[in-house]
Amino acid sequence: MTDPSSLKVVVTSGVPAPARELLWEVFFASRGRGVSLPAHFPWIDSTDNVFCISLLDAHFPKGEKVIGALVIKTVDVSMHQQVGFVGLVCVAEDWRGKNQSSRLLLEATKLGQNLHLHALVLWTQKPNVYIGQDFVIDGQDFFGCALRGKKSIITMAFTSEGWPDSTGIQNQQGLPPFSIGGRLISTEHAKVVIVESLDGDVTLVKWIGRKEDVADLVECALPDKWGVNISEGDALVEELRKRQFKIDLMPAAVRMVKNLKKPSITLLNTIEFLDRV
Ligand SMILES: CC(C)(COP(=O)(O)OP(=O)(O)OC[C@H]1O[C@@H](n2cnc3c(N)ncnc32)[C@H](O)[C@@H]1OP(=O)(O)O)[C@@H](O)C(=O)NCCC(=O)NCCS
Repeated sequence: MTDPSSLKVVVTSGVPAPARELLWEVFFASRGRGVSLPAHFPWIDSTDNVFCISLLDAHFPKGEKVIGALVIKTVDVSMHQQVGFVGLVCVAEDWRGKNQSSRLLLEATKLGQNLHLHALVLWTQKPNVYIGQDFVIDGQDFFGCALRGKKSIITMAFTSEGWPDSTGIQNQQGLPPFSIGGRLISTEHAKVVIVESLDGDVTLVKWIGRKEDVADLVECALPDKWGVNISEGDALVEELRKRQFKIDLMPAAVRMVKNLKKPSITLLNTIEFLDRV
């Protein structure tokens, strides 16, 4: 195996094809899931606000090979603050346990500083990968399992259409990696997005409207059992529990932040589940 110190770091705007191959293999093909990278990350073809850090083994027998990569999407979180959402951090299996993700994250920090970003932000179920690189936990997400407790007496008209729309550019939000398709269900007062996984499970991933209107729509349009990705303290959970939905919440990803500027960002608003990397 090549000496790790001779691996080459390459920073690009946009995500080049060799890095895409590794990302696809690690996060989708090896897990038997996935539609296409653009179906899950509609912004991945952008070269304006999307950057990729690749680690190249220049001595691979058949030419260069990407052995690690991560993606950074820059986002304005206020008038004067831009942060980088970091995601798709991966290292090829043969290279794991050799500090290569730490090296990628160090390069991400340098890039963030060069781009004058206020902070790097990421969501993970493996915080230990990031703690040594000075990322700190500042939020906890939950995955909920919802079960209808009584038959709904609400009847209302709603529309249901494929989501994301066929152009895939509706709002730069794509299918979560575990899903194969989605639907946007709407009434005059509320909208919800549900996605379906390969085994037919339904997950509520987005809702717009007053909690009472969203809960009405959920009661009418969702099956008896569904999952939900939800942030700490979201009012929808209480509203649904009032309506006798049994909702069990389990800790899911944590949000981690690495501040790059002073004063630090302390109050980053909730970032929608579908806007994350
Ligand atoms: C997670 C992954 C990127 C780690 O890469 P790596 O090069 O093996 O990690 P490193 O050797 O640089 O280790 C860095 C730290 O992460 C920790 N770590 C490594 N793999 C880990 C894992 N799977 N779970 C939790 N912690 C892990 C190490 O213990 C080390 O901690 P330390 O600094 O306290 O010693 C790699 O295993 C991978 O590509 N996994 C599949 C994709 C994935 O899950 N990505 C993370 C998405 S959040």
